[in-house]
Amino acid sequence: MKIAVVGTGYVGLVTGTCFAETGNTVTCVDIDQEKVDKLSNGQITIYEPGLEKIFQRNLKEERLVFTTNLADGIRDAEIVFLALPTPPGEDGSADLKYVLGVAKEIGKLLTDYKVIVNKSTVPVGTAKKVRDAIAENCKVEYDVISNPEFLREGVAVEDFMKPDRVVIGTTSERARKVMSDLYAPFVRQGNPVIFMDEASSELTKYAANSFLAVKISFMNEIARLCEKLGADVDMVRRGIGSDDRIGKRFLFPGIGYGGSCFPKDVQALVRSAHEVQYDFRILESVMAVNEDQKTFLVPKIKKYFGDSLLGKHFALWGLAFKPNTDDIREAPALYIIKALIGEGATVTVFDPEAMNNVRKVMDNVINYAESQYEALDGADALIIATEWNEFRTPDFGRIKERMKGNAIFDGRNLFDLGEIEKLGFHYESIGRKPVAAPVTESTPVTA
Ligand code: UDX
Repeated sequence: MKIAVVGTGYVGLVTGTCFAETGNTVTCVDIDQEKVDKLSNGQITIYEPGLEKIFQRNLKEERLVFTTNLADGIRDAEIVFLALPTPPGEDGSADLKYVLGVAKEIGKLLTDYKVIVNKSTVPVGTAKKVRDAIAENCKVEYDVISNPEFLREGVAVEDFMKPDRVVIGTTSERARKVMSDLYAPFVRQGNPVIFMDEASSELTKYAANSFLAVKISFMNEIARLCEKLGADVDMVRRGIGSDDRIGKRFLFPGIGYGGSCFPKDVQALVRSAHEVQYDFRILESVMAVNEDQKTFLVPKIKKYFGDSLLGKHFALWGLAFKPNTDDIREAPALYIIKALIGEGATVTVFDPEAMNNVRKVMDNVINYAESQYEALDGADALIIATEWNEFRTPDFGRIKERMKGNAIFDGRNLFDLGEIEKLGFHYESIGRKPVAAPVTESTPVTA
């Protein structure tokens, strides 16, 4: 099939590349000339495991092309995907200016039937708005449908190629047929394509992300309670997760959810609910809990150092909001760094992929290390903010040698309490008992 994808951000590029991989011819359209030039010359613009290989292959086979020209991009396409940004507006609702702007342009350009597909996460009612925006200038028949994307950063290719489900919101038989054919290769293993009306489809995306955010915030609150009651959140997690109705996944406490989706989508759903005079109380609490959770480690660190962090130096491992991505949007690490600096401390950071993105926003406010071990030089404590695999089994001997102090504050519960106890560190994590280092002359007083 011939496909156009408008917007070559994260979702657009993965969508375009993966559809090309199953034999379709895909034209990706973006207004950013520099980006289009880079992509056309084989320079991939995002970090995503496994994407580069299929990107290069399909570029070479000419099944994947890039252009800034919308008219050229959509001319031969049977399906036009809109994968455009929907940033939060001032009031937290999703701003549709990019989606509706492109829809208007498409209206002027359509000369034959096409299925216009909303891939962006958009509030209920957007498909209708897109349909109306196209209709302003359009004389031919077309369908506008909703097809939300559920892929996760870091495993986006796998999620796209083997989706748990594909949700399609349309009541048009013609569009339904086109989309069934398109997705057939992706659901051969038996996972469903679920057809529904467009409003339900649009809401499904928000409901899915918000539900997962509820799960995470719930566990973060259980973790806080564990600390107060002397329970271990790892045990509680395993105890509840083995109940099928609850499920094992997304029960890991930490320093809050971040990224480009959860914070934005939870906020947008609360906002949409307000617009129809509904007070979404659970989600309002979820937002508040997550806000607190991002800096949950800071009071622990302060307490350990006798309340003042003035002149203290910290090593921080992990800047991306989660592993296997260079994405730092709403990353808890950034909130922790700001809080530490605000207390008069200095910070040296290391992340396997996200250093350049952090340099752009933090510049020389912090120090950047070449390796995870270099970051430790002279540090009073190590803080772990992202669960990259290389942080899971570090050389503890090297950590000790390079650090000045012996405290580790772990926002991702990477280390086994029993093991860490033998190693002589002061170790604090989330929802588990702290491990006290043997007292030495240099051990700070813990209240
Ligand atoms: C999410 C959804 O999973 C995906 O379906 C949607 O399309 C986009 O939003 P993503 O933002 O890439 O994907 O990341 P995900 O792996 O879902 O993690 C989101 C956040 O939750 C991260 O900050 C992660 O650290 C946090 N998280 C996740 C937890 O704190 N605990 C968990 O148990 C799981």
